[in-house]
Amino acid sequence: MKRKKRLSKKGKLLLGVIVVGIVIWTLIFSNSNKNITLEIHEIDNKANYTLKIDYPTLSNKKIENKVTSYIKNKKSEFLDNALKIKDISKSKCDLAITYTLHDLFQYKALYVTVYSYTGGAHYNKEIKTYYYDDKTGDEVTIKEFLEKDKFDVLANLAYYQTIKYYEDNDKNYDEEWIKEGTKAISDNYSYFNITSDGLQLYFLPYQVGPYSDGEISILISKNDLKGIVKSDYLLTEDTLVEVSDPLKRDLSKFKDKKLMAFTFDDGPSDGPTNKLLDNLEKYEARVTFFALGSRVSTYSKTLKRAYEMGNTIGSHTYSHLNLYQLNDYDIIKEINNTNEVIKKAIGVTPDKLRAPYGNTNAHIKELSDMYTILWDIDTEDWKYKDAEKIKDNIVNHAHDGAIVLLHDIYNSSVEGALLAMEELKDEYAFVSIDEMIELKNISLDKTKTHFNF
Ligand code: NI
Repeated sequence: MKRKKRLSKKGKLLLGVIVVGIVIWTLIFSNSNKNITLEIHEIDNKANYTLKIDYPTLSNKKIENKVTSYIKNKKSEFLDNALKIKDISKSKCDLAITYTLHDLFQYKALYVTVYSYTGGAHYNKEIKTYYYDDKTGDEVTIKEFLEKDKFDVLANLAYYQTIKYYEDNDKNYDEEWIKEGTKAISDNYSYFNITSDGLQLYFLPYQVGPYSDGEISILISKNDLKGIVKSDYLLTEDTLVEVSDPLKRDLSKFKDKKLMAFTFDDGPSDGPTNKLLDNLEKYEARVTFFALGSRVSTYSKTLKRAYEMGNTIGSHTYSHLNLYQLNDYDIIKEINNTNEVIKKAIGVTPDKLRAPYGNTNAHIKELSDMYTILWDIDTEDWKYKDAEKIKDNIVNHAHDGAIVLLHDIYNSSVEGALLAMEELKDEYAFVSIDEMIELKNISLDKTKTHFNF
């Protein structure tokens, strides 16, 4: 009897521990983004190359390992090539790797984009896609979404749509090239998306035409897909995002204070950006985000939150490429694509641009038709990843009208910014770029580079 009773006590204790464990687990994880808990960032700015890599830590480790080793290969391939180049006077090499992750029905769709520039006329672009079951890590191809034996019919549609694309755009094309590039093999259809409009297919440069034709995207409309794509996968509806007007505040209370604008590049992110937003009210602070277009759809909720709180949202281009290395068409694409995704997420098009690495000139300004905002306090947060040091850098250089450069993809940057606000709060008001302009009564000039106000 005694023995039995003791066991049941143990049992109760164990049960208690399990219940408490579940509660804590739920509290910690229920509100976080279930796709991504963490990210890895690498950034470097050397004499002969720049490098910027973002990749996700995924809940499915099998896929994560594949992605990680793919990216590692790309990086060492790039470094091998970059280090071989002796004459760096003309062209600085660059590697930019970004990703987008979203749900595609019961699957996950992960797109990893690799841009590398190691001399020559243009960046090399590669996209590696993973469509997978999050539980098992098993990958699927486009065939999973098609009715049995309908791949050929789809390929035929894609062939005619591609020809139509060329004719509509008054461009020359090679029928054989297109036929080869749209043939019914999974490799030709490794990059796609199913939206409320239909099936979007992407063909990378060289797949259906010469490199100079660039990436081509064609849409096969929902109506044409009946009987080809399984009906379960044609049910998508456009989810309209409701965006509230940003909170306005009375700026007159800051009239006697010095002003500082904290700006955050390379986000939005899950953890760091939200941590920053959680703490802004404490310092009556508003800040500015120069968002990376490629990250906006993955972290659109965070960007929307930042906007609705009254922070300024600007553009940091789509893929974080060195604009000096791009032709006009690609520069405009980097800018327009970003403005489009930001508009989709927050309902307004940004009018402020911060070029990656601050690399801009009169021509880029003219092409962008946006206001160029750089910075005059460079915290070098990405290098130190040390909150105290970042804080010191801000505090030691603080002055009225300053623009501080930070990155909301590192916790240390957010912590450093908050520590600086704590120290400076009696003397300074922390305002967004838009507020700074209003308070100082400044009219921006699209031909100028604004480093401070
Ligand atoms: Ni950047």
